[in-house]
Amino acid sequence: MVDKKVKVLFVCLGNICRSPSAEAIFSAKVNTAGYASQISTDSAGTSNYHIGSSPDNRAVTYASRRGYDLKHLRARQVSADDFDKFDYILAMDEDNLVNLTAIKPQQCKARLALILNYIDCELVSNEVPDPYFGGDQGFDHVLDLLETASDGLLNNILKNHSL
Ligand code: 4NP
Repeated sequence: MVDKKVKVLFVCLGNICRSPSAEAIFSAKVNTAGYASQISTDSAGTSNYHIGSSPDNRAVTYASRRGYDLKHLRARQVSADDFDKFDYILAMDEDNLVNLTAIKPQQCKARLALILNYIDCELVSNEVPDPYFGGDQGFDHVLDLLETASDGLLNNILKNHSL
């Protein structure tokens, strides 16, 4: 059977803070909107630093306060194959985008972009800041950005794919 799901991959550096948060938030929004059978989500890191690890405890805690469960997720590294498995590959920041562009095959299925391009309003920055080396408030800011971007992304996908 042909798998017609729209597949979305979120990518950061370590796959333990921002991209697993994006995966959980977007997946919750997809479920709530009733599109779980039509849209699937995953996340990965550009680095190999944390392969197989659980998300960072701070990311787990701050996400769970808003009702998102990250505990079951495990980090993996993005690969060139992902560009033919996914329809959207969405980077958290410009460094991730540069690293993804370096491994992107010339011909591929995936549309590569920054996740914050899907926020409608003007932003000071189009990057989701790396919270790993910062304070706890950075994790809440990441969640604020990703919740808003997920709404825009879902609307965009529903429109583009006539769902
Ligand atoms: P993430 O955060 O890219 O949002 O998962 C980071 C996690 C780990 C490291 C850097 C960023 N690190 O250098 O180990």
